[in-house]
Amino acid sequence: MKMYLVNKLVKLCSNKLALGHRIRLKYSTNVEISKNVTLQNRNINFLQRSYGQPTAATHPHLIRRGELLPGILLEDFKHRRSKLIENIQKDSSLSQMPDRTHLLIIPSASKVYMSEKIPYVFRQNTDFLYFTGCQEPDSVLVMTVNNDNCSSTLFVRQKDSQSELWDGPRTGVDAATYMFGVDQALPTSEFENYIKSFLRENKNTIVWYDHTEVVQPELEKKLSNFLSQSAKQVFDSLKTFIHDIRLIKTAAEIKLMHESCDIASAAIAKTIAISKPGMTEHQIFATVDYECRMNGAEYLAYPPVVASGNNANVIHYITNNQVVADGDMVLMDAGCEYHGYSSDITRTWPINGTFTPQQRILYEVVLDIQKELIEKLRNMPTLDSIFHEMCLLMGKRLQDVGLIPKSVGHDKLLAAAFSYCPHHASHYLGMDVHDTGKISRSIKVRPGMIVTVEPGIYVNARNKLAPPEFHGLGIRIEDDILITADGPVVLTKNCPKEVHEIEALAKSNQ
Ligand code: GLY
Ligand code: MN
Ligand code: MN
Repeated sequence: MKMYLVNKLVKLCSNKLALGHRIRLKYSTNVEISKNVTLQNRNINFLQRSYGQPTAATHPHLIRRGELLPGILLEDFKHRRSKLIENIQKDSSLSQMPDRTHLLIIPSASKVYMSEKIPYVFRQNTDFLYFTGCQEPDSVLVMTVNNDNCSSTLFVRQKDSQSELWDGPRTGVDAATYMFGVDQALPTSEFENYIKSFLRENKNTIVWYDHTEVVQPELEKKLSNFLSQSAKQVFDSLKTFIHDIRLIKTAAEIKLMHESCDIASAAIAKTIAISKPGMTEHQIFATVDYECRMNGAEYLAYPPVVASGNNANVIHYITNNQVVADGDMVLMDAGCEYHGYSSDITRTWPINGTFTPQQRILYEVVLDIQKELIEKLRNMPTLDSIFHEMCLLMGKRLQDVGLIPKSVGHDKLLAAAFSYCPHHASHYLGMDVHDTGKISRSIKVRPGMIVTVEPGIYVNARNKLAPPEFHGLGIRIEDDILITADGPVVLTKNCPKEVHEIEALAKSNQ
């Protein structure tokens, strides 16, 4: 009886609960208790229906009413799906094939195991997340277009008390329709039948499914068998349509990117401040990781590079197990993932707080070039042209400081600069670190895009041109830039990079 009353009260009050109101509950025993609901959520949640991911009712500190993911409304996901359909329908290469039926298949990620029964932290397939907001593994979004009739079907795992006992609640089929705002939800076990019967009834269907990058191996097995047998017309280019949409960030996404960049900027500044000679690269890694998580990020966006001294010459150095020697610099490339949005920052600093003359010379070259490249974004260039500009500027500057002989002519200068910086100067950034990989870097940037600018100079054993006092130095400076009609906006501006700022920060714990 008491339980019944409590349930009833919880139901009656659930709207207020989500808003964190202070309420008074009166039990049948006449014991009046005052509850600060924000603190009592745990008890309330126990009585509520649970889902496979946070909701406004269960996690009001993360999700507001109307949102499906933090900062992103349920309506936005519907809009994204409509936009994808619209773009496919109006694609010029398809306009020669009017009246065709389309079937789009976007799989979620599956769980991946590091060893027997031990899963890696689950990260949803970004394209699937972008169009569904669904954070569960082994799901599939299927959209169909038949003349002007569009439908969205989400295939999700059924509820299963035994599995849920181990892995936590699933949203289940019944709740998925309203939770994700799709036309219908079906159990994943129905996926094959659904596709087969759709194709039987719609012989002229174009299937949009990307075989080139497998994100759900079981689904891939089923589909590759079956689609090749039924010889349907399959287009791999769905990803390009998807990335075209993801490339331009909405206001809500820009807000999340701002936050991600702010958290990582502060974490890196703090990490530089506490660093000192004798610390390990690993401790520096732990500090930036801790600072990001403590300030709201879910985790780091990628294994960070924390490279002291000559280790900075290994571009993807992630072993991070060396002691940082007095007199060395540390190159740290780290960013965080905040509610699905990634930052990507690199800073290089002298561990003892003072650049040596050679370190300072190269640092200033990289910094000047980086600032110049950021400014060039005002003219809406391509990212490839930013790389070309970087090589040009670097070639000249390295001649000035004696790392490339003055005798090297213009034709060989770019190659000489490239030998000091073997990576690109820029990539798109967003939900993924190397975001929207299907979009060429030969298109001009546009407002709403976010890109990195990350020139570097690495003087390793292969750079025979460099005087010995520069050997072993590796420097990169990387910021995240929002392109706007009024010019580039540096989202990572709160992460210091001027020589005097870096030295002052790095000196603070000596
Ligand atoms: N952190 C990876 C990159 O800068 O591209
Ligand atoms: Mn980057
Ligand atoms: Mn980076």
